[in-house]
Amino acid sequence: MTDTLSIRDNRTGRDYEIEITDGTIRAADLKQIALDGEPGLATYDPGFVNTASCRSSVTYIDGDAGILEYRGYPIEQLAESSTFLEVAYLLLQGELPNASELEAWTHEITYHTFVHENLKTLLQGFRYDAHPMGMLMAAVSALSTFYPEANDVKDADNRDLQIARLIAKMPTIGAFAFRHGKGQPYVYPDNELSYVENFLAMLFKMSERKYVADERLVKALDVLFILHADHEQNCSANAVRSVGSSQVDPYSALASGIGALYGPLHGGANEQVLKMLRRIGTTDNIGDFIEGVKGGKEKLMGFGHRVYKNYDPRAKIIKKAADDVFEVTGVNPLLKIALELEKIALEDEYFVKRKLYPNVDFYSGLIYEALSFPPEMFTVLFAIGRTPGWLAQWKELTTDSEQKIARPKQIYTGHRTRDFVPMAQR
Ligand SMILES: CC(C)(COP(=O)(O)OP(=O)(O)OC[C@H]1O[C@@H](n2cnc3c(N)ncnc32)[C@H](O)[C@@H]1OP(=O)(O)O)[C@@H](O)C(=O)NCCC(=O)NCCS
Repeated sequence: MTDTLSIRDNRTGRDYEIEITDGTIRAADLKQIALDGEPGLATYDPGFVNTASCRSSVTYIDGDAGILEYRGYPIEQLAESSTFLEVAYLLLQGELPNASELEAWTHEITYHTFVHENLKTLLQGFRYDAHPMGMLMAAVSALSTFYPEANDVKDADNRDLQIARLIAKMPTIGAFAFRHGKGQPYVYPDNELSYVENFLAMLFKMSERKYVADERLVKALDVLFILHADHEQNCSANAVRSVGSSQVDPYSALASGIGALYGPLHGGANEQVLKMLRRIGTTDNIGDFIEGVKGGKEKLMGFGHRVYKNYDPRAKIIKKAADDVFEVTGVNPLLKIALELEKIALEDEYFVKRKLYPNVDFYSGLIYEALSFPPEMFTVLFAIGRTPGWLAQWKELTTDSEQKIARPKQIYTGHRTRDFVPMAQR
């Protein structure tokens, strides 16, 4: 027997039976509920707070319980035992790779790390103080012009090639944007290094022959990339899917995801956290700051989440990674303010009642700063980590026969037909 929802339209007295599948009804089924001659009933859901836009088998989140799983594997286990490239494979292929699959995948990614010299020229054209997220977004969309065959999104092999290119080239572009801001020469990829070691080398190598990164820092950044790798239908994944639904190439779709991530309510939050901590300055000012937040003057950045109404599981892992990093770099003095803020907020009724807990961005900025990244680079790091997730979402979209071009409805609130008024009569 199928589950159904009985609806009575009190405007007409008519009854309807709507099928319930997987805890949802199809919004299109509501169209039959109509007044004579009028368009059918629709749902109004700004920000998609209660609307499923797709079926997905990539990432599972239980926000109330604080659970995050990629393809069924808990984030805690992946952060502990896996690597970023292995997790990228898992997200994209649905299963963990065996040894030879991982070797082939690692080779494939390593082989594609170089970018066309003209892309370098494009980046060099930016002003010295250009935000690296703007540079990343522009460079990723420009990649579509280097690989015009990428628009054949229905071809599986072609899709896989562009996916490998994107995962491989994101750190190169991110590092070039970083060096640009410092006025330093761009460092080419070193294919003998691991994904994260190579990224660190492209960022920080100076005149030494071989850049050797501290293993603990490599591990911490790898874990941060794993934690950021996917987060189901968030704002940027939705942007990638929405733009990708037009069947545009994946570079253009990902550029839109980067744009979404750039916003302060999404990936830009960790940059805001650091600015906020600096502004607070000392633990003595925390009381006034919290009062301001409670009075609606501003938000406690790095707190709250649309989905998690519990401690963000990634924030717990990040706290541990922060300890490992500070062991190498020395403790970031802002940590004391962050820890005190967290303690107060977790006890304060305002935050408790609204289920506001630290999210992934609360501590990640402190780690990035300790690793010598300027705040503008934080979201770039997030974007590099999120790339496999965006691509897994995009791949799922392009192979899902139920998907259509994204095209929401609206409730029109403007004027209806009126005659044009000549200039002299206005
Ligand atoms: C993430 C975020 C956008 C989620 O927003 P949302 O699901 O739309 O939640 P709402 O804005 O409806 O918030 C619900 C209530 O909590 C309050 N609230 C949410 N986040 C808050 C924060 N960080 N500081 C203070 N109050 C907050 C809202 O003002 C609202 O209060 P009200 O009911 O009295 O009006 C929001 O929590 C936020 O802006 N956080 C700070 C930015 C951030 O860290 N983003 C990174 C996300 S990973």
